[in-house]
Amino acid sequence: MKLQKASSLKGEITIPGDKSISHRAIMLGSLAKGTTKVTGFLMGEDCLSTIDCFRKMGVSVDIAEGIVTIEGLGLHGLKAPKDVLYTGNSGTTTRILSGILCGQRFTSQINGDESIQKRPMKRIIDPLSLMGADIRSINDNGCAPMEIRPAALHGINYDSKIASAQLKSALLFAGLYAEGNTSFTEPYLSRNHTEIMMNSFGGNVIAQGTTTTITPEPAFTGREVFVPGDISSAAFFIVAGLITPNSEILIKNVGINPTRMGIISVCKEMGGNVELQNEHTTDGEPYADILVRTSDLHGITIEGNIIPTLIDELPVIAVMAACAKGTTTIKDAAELKVKESNRIDYMVSNLSAMGADIVGTDDGMIITGGKALHGATIDSAKDHRIAMSMAIASLVAEGETHIPDYECVNISYPDFFSTLESLKL
Ligand code: S3P
Repeated sequence: MKLQKASSLKGEITIPGDKSISHRAIMLGSLAKGTTKVTGFLMGEDCLSTIDCFRKMGVSVDIAEGIVTIEGLGLHGLKAPKDVLYTGNSGTTTRILSGILCGQRFTSQINGDESIQKRPMKRIIDPLSLMGADIRSINDNGCAPMEIRPAALHGINYDSKIASAQLKSALLFAGLYAEGNTSFTEPYLSRNHTEIMMNSFGGNVIAQGTTTTITPEPAFTGREVFVPGDISSAAFFIVAGLITPNSEILIKNVGINPTRMGIISVCKEMGGNVELQNEHTTDGEPYADILVRTSDLHGITIEGNIIPTLIDELPVIAVMAACAKGTTTIKDAAELKVKESNRIDYMVSNLSAMGADIVGTDDGMIITGGKALHGATIDSAKDHRIAMSMAIASLVAEGETHIPDYECVNISYPDFFSTLESLKL
């Protein structure tokens, strides 16, 4: 993929479905009784991995004309898979599905690609074990592959050191099968899509501040789910519209759940012209159209409880910071080091290669904006969000930017490059 500087971006785009909500729709649809129909489902590789895993456990999942229909088997209806459950590149599938598997009456193994096999799973193995689960890292290195055997679960009150929706969701799903309530407390509130969707399927999840509690054994009933556009995918075009000259982009139907909205606050605080229009809510998930226009941006400090609400957007926020006046400091984001790649290292090396002034720290990055960027060859470590962030940087870089492993965008946004090109016309 070879990309050139853009003189202007104009137009209206629709963003593909939210990745987090799409995963959860398959999981809850499979554990519900009756039929679940999902519209707006993200047909990206990660969500297709989730479908594949549930099909291997006997769930019928049909995809036709963009609608996903799941014939749920109920909480105790999943069948023992014949093969290892393969989760591809998806941390969300690996961690949340593990929580579900801990409650099943069969043994299973779960594994993913090279990146998944390096990502920390001890964070789920430890609390799930405290609930009585029989879950272990097969190579005893705290990573996938994992084996899960049947065991009786009991509720716990877990005080987590990290804010993580995947970890929280693994415990909430295991909590469905436990005796007594399970509570999860995190330092800052992470995305709450599991809580919202479980309750709309008939569950009993209560959130108080940063503590989330589930009461076990609800009767989930199949339903219709509408998945709004993914704000994490919209973020690339929000930043593109702000940093490219003469630009105006209308981004339709984007999820604006407050636990995901950090990118909007940061853009506004940096001086970005971002407007929400046409706000609606579906089953507790708000969404809106987002209008962005070219803006003069300035650096800020991003830290504390806003971090989980924009964790996946920090790579593209680093690009925005490289185009802003002054210094942007990102702190409290050590989690970036254990995403699909070490996103601090890869953003620092790639943006530096393009001429930016960026330094990595233990828990974030310091970026001093205003240096002229030039094209470079990007090493995105097959990390979809690094590849897309660097594609956005190319819009303001003199010369050609080359992204050899561009196909990794299929993980979350298969149409990313064609959408980007459509705005250049
Ligand atoms: C996700 C939670 C976040 C996020 C990931 C998706 C989810 O990870 O980075 O892309 O769907 O629950 P953490 O749970 O590690 O915060």
